[in-house]
Amino acid sequence: MPRLLLDCDPGHDDALAILLAAKHSDLLGITTVSGNAPLTATTHNALLTLQIAGIEAPVYAGAARPLVAEAQHAPDIHGASGLGGPVLPELTQAAAGGDAVRFIVDTVRETDGVWLVAVGPLTNVALALREAPDIAARLAGISVMGGSAGFGNRTATAEFNIWADPEAAQVVFTSGVKLIMCGLNVTHQFMIYEDDVARIRALNNPVAEFAAELLSFYGQAYADAFFGRAEGPLHDPCAVLAVTHPDLLVTEPRHVEVELRGEHTRGMTVVDERGARASTKPNVQVAYRINREGALALLVETLGTYR
Ligand code: RIB
Ligand code: CA
Repeated sequence: MPRLLLDCDPGHDDALAILLAAKHSDLLGITTVSGNAPLTATTHNALLTLQIAGIEAPVYAGAARPLVAEAQHAPDIHGASGLGGPVLPELTQAAAGGDAVRFIVDTVRETDGVWLVAVGPLTNVALALREAPDIAARLAGISVMGGSAGFGNRTATAEFNIWADPEAAQVVFTSGVKLIMCGLNVTHQFMIYEDDVARIRALNNPVAEFAAELLSFYGQAYADAFFGRAEGPLHDPCAVLAVTHPDLLVTEPRHVEVELRGEHTRGMTVVDERGARASTKPNVQVAYRINREGALALLVETLGTYR
């Protein structure tokens, strides 16, 4: 199984990403960042997800705000707590002392072949690459849930994780590290519908119930915020599956830039689709397709293994 560090901002789909990563990778640790909710909340939510699922992994809190921009959150999708929906137990465990960036740098320097899966704003990842540029060559790669080879969600052109800290994303996309981008164009193919939630709930174990409660809240939030139908795209699990089950996704090499200045496009990932005519050199493997049925079957099977 791949060695994996997960940087996240739980967040409903982040929690599902944790549940998948724990079963399909050697999960070395979790780092948290301000994003869907403030850092205190995303750290609390990561610890709670581990506690509910009985997962052993250290959690290190990271950046409480982006490199340059003001901190922005997504209570309309994830609730004020960042994990709206399920009745949550009291937290009985604490984050590890020490900082997320230090943990990322030390782990990558000490351990070969580590994948970093980043499913929140890229602030921690950018700070780690700035502090220790040598880790770019040591990492097996970075799999990012972020950006899009098409539509945005926080704005018409920008996806939330990149939009929330575009300066950090630019550091990551220009670092030379091996990069996989799972953007909205692919994550929206991994849509979870009400009958999928019912299938997960029928697994009849506490972790599947927790996941079903999360997905039910998340789907309704998407209905209220976007399309009117109770269905939620499982963004963050796509970035985990790109590492643990790469055969479930199709990626293509592309040159991708992060827009920092556009009045209508700040935070946009500009993907060069010109093919052979492109004067740019590919720096990212961009995901274009996911085998939804295969990914869903794996998710259901994985949730069924929790007790
Ligand atoms: O735009 C989707 C991304 O923003 C996901 O990672 C979700 O958890 C939020 O962080
Ligand atoms: Ca996230």
